[in-house]
Amino acid sequence: MPKDSLTITDNRTGKQYELQIENGAIRASELRQIKVKPEEFGLMSYDPAFMNTASCKSKVTFIDGDKGILRYRGYPIEQLAEESNFMEVAYLVVHGELPKKEELENWKYQIMHHTYVHENIKKFVDGFHYDAHPMGMFTSTMAALSTFYPDAKEIFDPQSRQLQTYRLIGKVSTIAAYAYRHAMGFPYTYPDNDLSYAGNFLGMLFKMSEPKYKPNPTIEKALDVLFILHADHEQNCSANAMRSVGSSYVDPFSALAAASAALYGPLHGGANEAVLRMLKEIGSKDKIPAFIKEVKEGKSDKRLMGFGHRVYKNYDPRAKIIKKLADDVFEVTGKNPLLDIALELERIALQDDYFVSRKLYPNVDFYSGLIYQAIGFPVDMFPVLFAIGRTAGWIAQWQEMLLDKEQKIARPRQLYLGYDQRDYVPIVRR
Ligand code: ACO
Repeated sequence: MPKDSLTITDNRTGKQYELQIENGAIRASELRQIKVKPEEFGLMSYDPAFMNTASCKSKVTFIDGDKGILRYRGYPIEQLAEESNFMEVAYLVVHGELPKKEELENWKYQIMHHTYVHENIKKFVDGFHYDAHPMGMFTSTMAALSTFYPDAKEIFDPQSRQLQTYRLIGKVSTIAAYAYRHAMGFPYTYPDNDLSYAGNFLGMLFKMSEPKYKPNPTIEKALDVLFILHADHEQNCSANAMRSVGSSYVDPFSALAAASAALYGPLHGGANEAVLRMLKEIGSKDKIPAFIKEVKEGKSDKRLMGFGHRVYKNYDPRAKIIKKLADDVFEVTGKNPLLDIALELERIALQDDYFVSRKLYPNVDFYSGLIYQAIGFPVDMFPVLFAIGRTAGWIAQWQEMLLDKEQKIARPRQLYLGYDQRDYVPIVRR
């Protein structure tokens, strides 16, 4: 008997089945052979929220949640944050290898020369209400972009995919900035292709009357690192949306709008905003013990926001990098007064048996909001910033799905528990 297999005994029939184990998994479709009667559909696995189902084979991102490891294409996130830059990391995530010098120059040139959007987009963004949420504006404008680029439907043409990749990574920053400027009531700022990706984004956000915007190098670097840290996170809710919607062979602008909508939700991209609200609510260090007590007692479902993670059962490696980054940013902007509360909260929580025994550690969102706020972003821009970095990962996941011969249109099964057939009853007899 081969070693990498699983023997299942169906106690309903006494029959035994041998299933291959490949890469630590069995194929769920192999279960279909297990039936009591030949006409039956066969056994399925039931897995709401994909708690234990691998939906794809991937070579993009590796996470070991117990050890607190995150790697893009094999490279540790710490090394990338320390030594690389977002343009290089985006290339790595999308193409699978670090670029050579000329490849990187071309990649940067192409992306920065695809930052402009059609003038009609401005009119489109103008149509939103003055207090429209920037993430709503971003998501729907990304969907609208698909109507400007009908050639994006050529998803199996590698050249077209490459062009859409330049357009997507280039234009997400412009549309994010337009959403911000619209919300602030400021005129839109055109991209400046001489600046770095992060520098240009800061310019599109904050440039006023000065002829040439000069980003503060510390802020520019911090934003670049934050984009790196958010570039991908394997099969999370929005990556799964990108793959699932993309599996219908829709164009990548439409699929990315779906991914962005998934990110908009408070359980995914909205937690850093919740951290800020929580820190404000606590208000001062002396109130922390009472707050922790309430969380532990489970009063009104209170949670320590920015703590805990479905995958990480150790310190989120991104949180460590962000914590260090915060010091650099606060030297320029002045310290965010909420930082002291955050640090003390972390110190107390990490000594408390409730959090220790449940393996609840700070996640990426615990400190990122403090940095964003110090840079000058309103809280509802936070998920949009997340989306800019994550665009590289969404594209990589989408492309990997398209080129994977085993993938088909994503279509889960269900366990139907509703009525059996019954006859229609006319309304007068109900
Ligand atoms: N504060 C207090 N208790 C918590 C917290 C928290 N932040 N997180 C989990 N717990 C407790 C739960 O009450 C539960 O306790 P119990 O076993 O006594 O019932 C136990 O820890 C396990 O929690 P689950 O909810 O089962 O863990 P799950 O993996 O489903 O949740 C999640 C992960 C949603 C991230 C959760 O930890 C949470 O709500 N954290 C706060 C929100 C947050 O920071 N989200 C950002 C995640 S990072 C990102 O998406 C980019």
